[in-house]
Amino acid sequence: MQNNREQWSSKILFLFAAIGSAVGLGNIWRFPYIMGEYGGAVFLFVYMFFILTICVIPLICELSIGKYTKKENVGAYAIVNPKLKFFGWINVITATVISSFYFVVGGWIIHYIYINFINHKLENHSDYFLSFVALPFLPYILTLVFLTACVFFVYRGVNKGIELGNKIMMPTFLLILIVLAIVSISLPNGHKGLEFMFKPDMSKISFEMILAALGQSFFTLSIGAGCLLVYGSYMKEKENIVKNAYLIIFADTIFALLAGIMIFPAVFSFGLKSDSGAGLVFITLPKIFAQMPYGSFLAILFFILLLFAALTSAISLAEVQTAAYIENFHLSRKKAAGLVFVIIAILALPVSLSFGFLSNVKIFSKSFFDLFDFITSNILMPLNSIIICIIFGWFVKIKKVLIFKNEYIYKLFSVLVKYIVPLVLTILMICGLLK
Ligand code: PFF
Repeated sequence: MQNNREQWSSKILFLFAAIGSAVGLGNIWRFPYIMGEYGGAVFLFVYMFFILTICVIPLICELSIGKYTKKENVGAYAIVNPKLKFFGWINVITATVISSFYFVVGGWIIHYIYINFINHKLENHSDYFLSFVALPFLPYILTLVFLTACVFFVYRGVNKGIELGNKIMMPTFLLILIVLAIVSISLPNGHKGLEFMFKPDMSKISFEMILAALGQSFFTLSIGAGCLLVYGSYMKEKENIVKNAYLIIFADTIFALLAGIMIFPAVFSFGLKSDSGAGLVFITLPKIFAQMPYGSFLAILFFILLLFAALTSAISLAEVQTAAYIENFHLSRKKAAGLVFVIIAILALPVSLSFGFLSNVKIFSKSFFDLFDFITSNILMPLNSIIICIIFGWFVKIKKVLIFKNEYIYKLFSVLVKYIVPLVLTILMICGLLK
């Protein structure tokens, strides 16, 4: 096992980076919207149940295998058993495919910071957004700008780059989020937004809601793309994995709830509809900012918040790929980061164009953007999680890696990781695909 690799300078910087990976676009627009749509408090309850009992298991497995082997994804699986190396590459492929659409959204965010900065007044927010994303060059060029920023941090390495980025961005991010949440709750009728989020609506309990809660849990915690494995590989020996895993989950949930508290009171106060997905962030919210005092300033703050959230997650995706290329192709960090740039730049091109020039190209009746999102969220991420549980449960001597003070907890963990979690995930994944 190699020990000349970099390590996190402190426990808190590891947590910043891991939380930075988890907290992203999934928290800011996806979580509040899905929660509101699927019954508010009821959804929150099911979601919390999933992350605390099911998703925490692959999260612990990723951190453990990383910390134990001190290798990136491919090398880590190879150490557990050389025949498993292939699964490490699947992680790298998953991170690459997620990057191809995640970075495109990063480019859109940069554009929205710019138009608010120059105080560009929009006539129709929806038309503006749809015609902007359909442009052939600008969104793609901005994707490359976002990619360059991300690759810059990764190229500088764990301590001088990844830690630095997270050290600046995470506290700023939290501060802006709190300021905007306070502004939003103090708007007239703001409480209606909180009711929408938190009032339990029992009629929404359905199998579909359970699947939605599970899908959200994976994406938001960055499980199943190897990010936490590679971050775990830079952990110091004495760090407690289980405690850190729960801290990551706790912080991610707080950020998601704060994001909802920032968004929904404003949406309800201005009598707008809680639109879905990208529309909520790029159409509905700009409409609100346009009607608020100091709207352009608040909009700039909001999009900077979104940019930081996206960038800290993007850095973890790029690190999975960079670390794999360094160790398996024997490249310098500089060359590996360059290779990541080229690969993502190529893959992001059809994704960016799928809103305009390539909008008629459909594969399995999906555009490139939807296809890449579907393949990763519905197939690759759950599959990687099932695999890592099985590998950790059956191929690793669990007690060598995790310390259990209580024999019953060890037994419970073993049963969960070996049987229950892989089984539940397989059933839910298949149901999700057949739906
Ligand atoms: N967790 C990130 C979010 O909530 O936006 C997205 C993400 C990052 C997913 C990294 C997967 C991943 F590997």
